[in-house]
Amino acid sequence: MKKFTMLLIAGLVSFTGASFAAENATPAKPISFSFEGPFGTFDKAQLQRGYKVYKEVCSNCHSMRLVAFRNLADHGGPGFTEEQVKALAATFTVKDGPDAEGNMFDRPGLASDRFPSPFPNEQAAAAANGGAAPPDLSLITKAREGWHGTFNQLWSNIGGPQYVYSLLTGYEEPSEEIKKETPEGKHYNPYFVSGHFISMPPPLADGQVTFDDGAPNKVDDMARDVSAFLAWTAEPKMEERKQLGFMVLIFLSVFAGLMYFVKKKIWRDAH
Ligand code: HEC
Repeated sequence: MKKFTMLLIAGLVSFTGASFAAENATPAKPISFSFEGPFGTFDKAQLQRGYKVYKEVCSNCHSMRLVAFRNLADHGGPGFTEEQVKALAATFTVKDGPDAEGNMFDRPGLASDRFPSPFPNEQAAAAANGGAAPPDLSLITKAREGWHGTFNQLWSNIGGPQYVYSLLTGYEEPSEEIKKETPEGKHYNPYFVSGHFISMPPPLADGQVTFDDGAPNKVDDMARDVSAFLAWTAEPKMEERKQLGFMVLIFLSVFAGLMYFVKKKIWRDAH
């Protein structure tokens, strides 16, 4: 037993140590979200605001090719109605074709389309952004850990949304020394995982997006909302998963209790 405990501790220590080494960036800011922990759920109003930030700001550069407009009406998501989804899909332009003459053409988005890239291809995207193409954001909160090895984070089971939040709010005026090192067209951001210089200019400014519910819209607020939205796009079935997990736990504890009494009954005469 003692040996096992020692092994467990050694394992945990090396595990968190390795994550630290891999990150090589400032740990993400430990802000909390409504959906963290085993019982956390998404805040629909926040997801709707996050969608608006994505639409008005991020979608100018980033696609979400794994998310269809109709998903915005799915259970456990932002809770838009089907009518709203149709209307908001139509505000996007989608490439379709070829038509009868063999030409590609543009048309307004349909509910079944996925969030398109504003650029015709990867090369054009990179050329327009100082050599680095803006990555697809569908799974970005799963692709980035933002892990800083604390028990609290293990329990909350998130990190990606905090990373995105930290990146969006983490642009800093660099010191003179860092300024000299900054490559042409890059921006200093200590939270960026691959080096501290990122090709994305600070995308948010206070008051940039106006929310229908009059919610606060400082950079900090918008960054929180869009990070929550991107947590949902990466795991749209999170609420179902947690509910199922909870039911399984209840079942298992009842089952374990039953088995205990069965065992007692069967072995009664042997004692
Ligand atoms: C002007 C274009 C532009 C806009 C607008 C923009 N981005 Fe980016 N973004 C980029 C580029 C370019 C990169 C790639 C940066 C690099 O690799 O240096 C990037 C990278 C990212 C990354 C990945 C960072 C990493 O760890 O690899 C995230 C996350 C991100 N953007 C989120 C957002 C969000 C959220 C918004 C909206 C609030 C947004 N971006 C708006 C251009 C943009």
